[in-house]
Amino acid sequence: MAYIPDSTRYESIPYNRCGNSGLKLPAISLGLWNNFGGEDVFENQRKMIQRAFDLGITHFDLANNYGPPHGSAEENFGSILKKDFIGYRDEMVISTKAGFGMWPGPYGDWGSKKYLCASLDQSLARMNLNYVDIFYHHRPDPETPLEETMAALDLIVRQGKALYVGISNYGVEDTKKAIDILNQQKTPFIIHQASYSMLNRWVEDGLTQLLEERGAGCIAFVPLAQGLLTDKYLNGIPKDSRAAKQYIKSLNEKDINPETIEKVQKLNEIAQQRGQSLAQMALVWILQEKSVVSALIGASKVSQIEENVKALDNSAFTQEELNTIEDILK
Ligand SMILES: NC(=O)c1ccc[n+]([C@@H]2O[C@H](COP(=O)([O-])OP(=O)(O)OC[C@H]3O[C@@H](n4cnc5c(N)ncnc54)[C@H](OP(=O)(O)O)[C@@H]3O)[C@@H](O)[C@H]2O)c1
Repeated sequence: MAYIPDSTRYESIPYNRCGNSGLKLPAISLGLWNNFGGEDVFENQRKMIQRAFDLGITHFDLANNYGPPHGSAEENFGSILKKDFIGYRDEMVISTKAGFGMWPGPYGDWGSKKYLCASLDQSLARMNLNYVDIFYHHRPDPETPLEETMAALDLIVRQGKALYVGISNYGVEDTKKAIDILNQQKTPFIIHQASYSMLNRWVEDGLTQLLEERGAGCIAFVPLAQGLLTDKYLNGIPKDSRAAKQYIKSLNEKDINPETIEKVQKLNEIAQQRGQSLAQMALVWILQEKSVVSALIGASKVSQIEENVKALDNSAFTQEELNTIEDILK
């Protein structure tokens, strides 16, 4: 049956302005790093994108290497767009990235103009799009001059292949330099995609403040620590979880260690007292940080997306709750 988006889709999620730009992002965005590749069930992927859109998630985040295999998440997403979203492109913010190893030889990795321009062309072809809304340099390149990498981003915007550009995984000092170069080139820097969760708070050490000062936004990736900040690992490793999937290497048995689980257990108790799940509390907690405009979640099931969007119904913390959380995280 043809998919018809829910007519109430703009009623449940706030849209936050990304820095001083004209772009607004949903407080919760969906990333396709895992669970949207060639190993994953296509119909489940399709249902997740449909449900996300029905709930007001307008922003979908990809990268050239998402899969496995590399490129397969973009291909699958392109197929879903073609099957279900013709006529809805202008209601979506689609991003992709390049910066990690993608093809053999010296031109398929890091941050040269040669790599970034070729990679974006390949991403557009895989998704069957004329342009992406945001294109990111995925990680800093210690060898290519930053001027060249930023010139590639500037060129891509001027070519109309991306409307906005951003960077990801850049530290504070490199971010400052990148913003200055882009300002000189007159292509505004609007967004930094940075890891941020209750268990990973490096952005609080200068990055979010810098972004605020420079009129840019932060989209926080891995906000649930890949599932650790939910109740799923409290009693072992479920068979259908990311940690159990052999083809996913980023979360392993060793990450589910007693020290982390003890913290997670305590956080879970606070979440229960607040009448929400730990996943929900973890999401609204990061959204309190100034300059964080969106929590970029992943999901393996429709029900997770539904639960995570519901988080926004209870986003205020008492000072006492914040203090207790702080004590646990220390
Ligand atoms: N820029 C970068 O370098 C970079 C790096 C990594 C990620 N990212 C972006 O960030 C996105 C999110 O990353 P992520 O998937 O690691 O984020 P995450 O939200 O921290 O983890 C997602 C995983 O948590 C579990 N989960 C989600 N909601 C749940 C719920 N309500 N209850 C129980 N479990 C729940 C699911 O695990 P199960 O699969 O076990 O069900 C899901 O796959 C990526 O898709 C990508 O777009 C960017």
